[in-house]
Amino acid sequence: MFVSFDGIDGTGKSTQCRLLVDHLRAQGRPVVHCVEPGTTAVGQSIRHLLLHQRHDMAARTEALLFLAARAELVETLVRPALERGDVVVSDRFMLSTLVYQGHAGGLDVDELRQVGAFATRGIAPDLTFVLDLPVAAARARLTATPDRMESRPAAYFERVRAGFLAEAGRDAKCRIIDASRTVEVIHREIVGAVDELERRSRA
Ligand code: TYD
Repeated sequence: MFVSFDGIDGTGKSTQCRLLVDHLRAQGRPVVHCVEPGTTAVGQSIRHLLLHQRHDMAARTEALLFLAARAELVETLVRPALERGDVVVSDRFMLSTLVYQGHAGGLDVDELRQVGAFATRGIAPDLTFVLDLPVAAARARLTATPDRMESRPAAYFERVRAGFLAEAGRDAKCRIIDASRTVEVIHREIVGAVDELERRSRA
């Protein structure tokens, strides 16, 4: 089983991702927890290049770096884990690239899907939770110094949010989650959806 979390920065996505990982591990399940971009050594270096260096880069360079980090993650962690039968829970995956670099960044979304399929060998989550919150509310929750992506104007994040809602709205494997509710209520909804996915896949 492969589950991913996505959404604009500040929706509590990483918290929910961790809570699901803890919940599954408490049940004795082997879980591989990934954070994108990052998790692998190569991914961490690419993350630094993408988020913590102030020099700007061309949109295609940015997209390819996110995809390179993902390719490394899939080759070294995701694919072996799924082959072993472990659960994979990823904080962001391909949907982030389609939305941030495509819908919001202006690159062609279908081209990104094609290059993305090369990077991931077509491996995709069985279920994606898209945590949704109005942009102003999400940005108000950010406390750390904004990184290169978070420093973009509010209009960029409006396009990101609209992109997530558009992509999730036409993909049966995506669930849009109202992130304005309490952490506990959201966690229960997520656990319920994961249980339902497992029941269906066993049937
Ligand atoms: P994230 O790790 O969620 O941010 P943080 O650690 O600050 O909570 O993601 C890093 C940033 O990279 C985030 O602004 C979204 C962006 N991003 C893309 O633009 N494209 C991608 O493919 C991915 C995975 C992330």
